[in-house]
Amino acid sequence: MVRILLILFFISSSSGVIRCTRDDGDNDLGFVTSLDPKLLSLKEEKLSHFRLYWHDITSGNNATSISVVRPSNLSATGFGIINVIDDPLTLGPKLSSKLVGRAQGFYTLSSQEEVGLLMSMNFAFTEGKYNGSTITVLGRNTVFHKMREMPVIGGSGLFRFARGYVQARTHTFNMKTGDAIVEYNCYVLHY
Ligand SMILES: *[C@@H]1O[C@H](CO)[C@@H](O)[C@H](O)[C@H]1NC(C)=O
Ligand SMILES: *[C@@H]1O[C@H](CO)[C@@H](O)[C@H](O)[C@H]1NC(C)=O
Ligand SMILES: *[C@@H]1O[C@H](CO)[C@@H](O)[C@H](O)[C@H]1NC(C)=O
Repeated sequence: MVRILLILFFISSSSGVIRCTRDDGDNDLGFVTSLDPKLLSLKEEKLSHFRLYWHDITSGNNATSISVVRPSNLSATGFGIINVIDDPLTLGPKLSSKLVGRAQGFYTLSSQEEVGLLMSMNFAFTEGKYNGSTITVLGRNTVFHKMREMPVIGGSGLFRFARGYVQARTHTFNMKTGDAIVEYNCYVLHY
């Protein structure tokens, strides 16, 4: 017993350096605390579904999608192009239908084999109680496939702790102008 106490004494006295850094507030043990979810009013997690139409307007005076990077030697798959977007999200396929938010971010043509986009965008909602809330979509969008699935990796406001996925289907694509209307079915778990 005495021996154990002696060993403990030596261990604790030899850890004086560690205690010094702890006094400096420099340790990695004290800055994370666990929190009761009730304190953030987190109740039941729920699954929400909504369908939106995403309007990528690249032509005309009111373009909502602009190329900010264009490779000097453009390949057939557009590899290397980056577009910044502020695309309207509406409830119906017509641009004149109810606007509920905007898709803001960028997409990068990142496939050499086919037209494949890396989508990196926030759906910023402006309608009703969702005004000011966002979900973040980050994923691969091979635009000539019938259906593309992309992860929802987070959210804010009413979509805090969001995770889920979206399924995108092209509604119309104008080969001449490059304008596209895409149906997005969103499945999101949140509180
Ligand atoms: C651009 O927007 C303005 C103002 O909303 C509108 O008057 C004009 O017709 C639009 N132009 C095109 C090409 O859609
Ligand atoms: C651009 O592409 C053409 C056709 O594929 C090729 O012959 C040429 O070498 C390329 N130029 C550069 C700078 O990569
Ligand atoms: C959404 O919120 C913004 C900022 O709080 C406000 O200016 C805007 O009028 C709201 N929009 C709707 C449709 O309630």
